[in-house]
Amino acid sequence: MTTIPELTNTKTLREKARRHIGEGAVTAGYSADRAVVLGLLNEALATEIVCVLRYRRHHFMARGIDARSTADEFLIHSNEEQGHADQIAGRIVQLGGEPDFSPDSLTARSHAEYVPAHTLIDMIKEDLVAERIAIDSYRELIQYLKDQDPTTSHMLRQILAVEEEHADELADLLAGLPKERGGAGVGSALGKAM
Ligand SMILES: [Fe+2]
Ligand SMILES: [Fe+2]
Repeated sequence: MTTIPELTNTKTLREKARRHIGEGAVTAGYSADRAVVLGLLNEALATEIVCVLRYRRHHFMARGIDARSTADEFLIHSNEEQGHADQIAGRIVQLGGEPDFSPDSLTARSHAEYVPAHTLIDMIKEDLVAERIAIDSYRELIQYLKDQDPTTSHMLRQILAVEEEHADELADLLAGLPKERGGAGVGSALGKAM
């Protein structure tokens, strides 16, 4: 039996994102509210860093007969999340802000959670939940920006496309696991319902 209560976290994520977006006001030259955009980008940066760390942990801790290729996938995802973090940090600086790399407040600022997980299936599920949170978060950020900041929007769209690939790959991994490990049928119920 498989339950994914974490999926409801999306509601919390959306409430959190809207809370900051509500502070937005339009300025003259740069039509987005720079302070709001910088705050939202720093939240996205924290999310990416937490995802880097969680995938890293999962890469090293993945065990079992089905684990090798999944562990490799975790490492690829971790490195791609690091690439996203770097892109976002670079954009924050371009906008005149400072990327917040403070480890003390990282998990509080991140949309996605750091869940260590101890079994392969739990790792994949937690990573899929985190990807779904990132997908909703980026989609909302893109919708908020509209055409106010085309450069940031373009970057976020590219990142969003990769997060969707990640989620799809995780759903496939989940579906590919043997039934006794909780995998069969889960992928179709999860991944394709997004
Ligand atoms: Fe990412
Ligand atoms: Fe991702």
